[in-house]
Amino acid sequence: QLPKSFNLVFFGGTGDLVTRKLLPGMYQCDRNGQLVRDGRIYCLGRQDLTQEMYLAKIEEKAREFIPKADWNDGVWSAFLSRLQYVRVDAGEPAQYAVLKEVLERNPAEVNVFFLSVAPSFFTTVCDNLARQGLSRANCRVVLEKPLGHDLASSNAITEAVGKHYRENQIYRIDHYLGKESVQNLMALRFGNALFEPLWRREWISNVQITIAEEVGIGSRGGFYEGTGALRDMVQNHLLQLLCFVAMEPPVSLDSNAIRDEKLKVLESLIPFTEEDVFKKTVRGQYRAGTSRGKPAVAYVEEAGIPADSKTETFVAIKAEIANWRWAGVPFYLFTGKRLPTRLAEIVINFRDVPHQIFPLAPGAAGAPAKLVIRLQPDEYIRLYLYAKQPGDTMELQPVYLDLNFAGAFKTNTRRAEGYERLLLDIIRGNQSLFVRQDELEQAWRWVEPILNTWAADPAGPKLYAAGTWGPAASAELLSRDGFCWHDED
Ligand code: BG6
Repeated sequence: QLPKSFNLVFFGGTGDLVTRKLLPGMYQCDRNGQLVRDGRIYCLGRQDLTQEMYLAKIEEKAREFIPKADWNDGVWSAFLSRLQYVRVDAGEPAQYAVLKEVLERNPAEVNVFFLSVAPSFFTTVCDNLARQGLSRANCRVVLEKPLGHDLASSNAITEAVGKHYRENQIYRIDHYLGKESVQNLMALRFGNALFEPLWRREWISNVQITIAEEVGIGSRGGFYEGTGALRDMVQNHLLQLLCFVAMEPPVSLDSNAIRDEKLKVLESLIPFTEEDVFKKTVRGQYRAGTSRGKPAVAYVEEAGIPADSKTETFVAIKAEIANWRWAGVPFYLFTGKRLPTRLAEIVINFRDVPHQIFPLAPGAAGAPAKLVIRLQPDEYIRLYLYAKQPGDTMELQPVYLDLNFAGAFKTNTRRAEGYERLLLDIIRGNQSLFVRQDELEQAWRWVEPILNTWAADPAGPKLYAAGTWGPAASAELLSRDGFCWHDED
């Protein structure tokens, strides 16, 4: 249930995230009739822009990022009437009075402050909001990653924000949790009795979670060089996906019930010793190659990247969970930039039959039952099984049962973007799909030994050609255990 009125304040109102994702996301919500009449959006920025100039600026972006089929001039102009550009320099304490005044003109049931600014500003913003009384119970803050660089800096953010806001006012966004397939994974696991008895070490041999990207680092060199794939993707998105696969059934959909179970998974991840890091992780960096048939430069040749950079653009990890359900089942995590294609999926590999009496068709070996949950570019769940090939042999071939969401739910043709769901949840006050502080801390605690070991290792990342599936060592991580990456089609 949405409150009767809300004020949604975007710090970083001229920035990329706001103009490319958040405003188009809110437009879509408006188009679907999901926003209350008294829902207002304030975009803050330092630039000296008139309201007209700001609206023209965002319209240009919006037309680029909102699919043509979803564009409606009437809806867009109604949406703009909710919007106000407010010139506020987030680094200037005195200017928060302006914000307070603006909000007081339109008091709302809920005030949301979305901090789409560098984390180094989090403390200043929260201190100054609080100074203006903007931390009361009807106020919420939204934090975007990176939430720290390591455990200590993440804890420092927690402490600074926690001085003024309670945990139930803090929304830590991981946009992967806004993706429909992730929520569908919960529905599949806990809304059906079918899989739950099989969802354990006795029946599952290994789990593979992949987020592959075709793009390089684009114009984000400055950010990426100090971050790398482990912090950018593993500490948050991949570990969160792992939690949804591995968690015990929560007692209800209550946000803390869900997050309690995710936390237990993070606490059960076996910590890495230095030796483990060398044995169970692979870090890579792309060198020159091709992307979509065009030449692609090496990471170290991208703008703003030093020639001797050791930042990883690829990570493969064999993670293990020490609990009754998962002991001995490897969870292989895999992510990288400049890979052959954009793809995110979770593959649950089931064990093979104890004794195979059927001949397998050529190329069908090593493909026992598996469940593939595809997050993007398309969204589906496929259950692969062996079936008899038509004809006069008993040869088996893998085939799949397909739950294709676009086909199954014909009434809802447009798939909502992750941010739409998340923004509405923040306004509604539902924290289920947001990361709790203890989860964040535990995730950092688990990745930190990997970060430290890599930082001290003079060997640096293994190079892979842009447009390939990363260093050969990542395939070896699985082949050593007798597995291989799931390879679609
Ligand atoms: C972001 C990372 O969190 O996720 C980016 O900072 C990455 O580096 C992006 O490209 C991937 O998100 P999506 O939804 O496009 O898979």
